[in-house]
Amino acid sequence: MDTSADPFAAIRDLLGGDDSPSEIIPASAEDCATFTDDAMVCTCNNVNAGEIRGLIQSGECGSLDDIQVRTRAGGGCGACVPFVAGIVQVELSRKADIVH
Ligand code: FES
Repeated sequence: MDTSADPFAAIRDLLGGDDSPSEIIPASAEDCATFTDDAMVCTCNNVNAGEIRGLIQSGECGSLDDIQVRTRAGGGCGACVPFVAGIVQVELSRKADIVH
């Protein structure tokens, strides 16, 4: 699967393909900041915020798709997807700020 044009393709597929929302809107940075590292973001697959942050900061994951493939976050009921996406977005932004 080529995800370069659609970074949310894998999660969209897991959520039901054509019947899934066409756009994932990440939760705001303010909302994502309320998750402490040990806070469970995806209860379906037992993924906490610290795991997501660590995988982004370590470079092991560089996108929402990477996080989904590695942790399965968002692959159950799908309720957490905006928060997973928001945390990924915040961490990628932080990482870019550190590099520059
Ligand atoms: S809480 Fe993450 S898929 Fe259900």
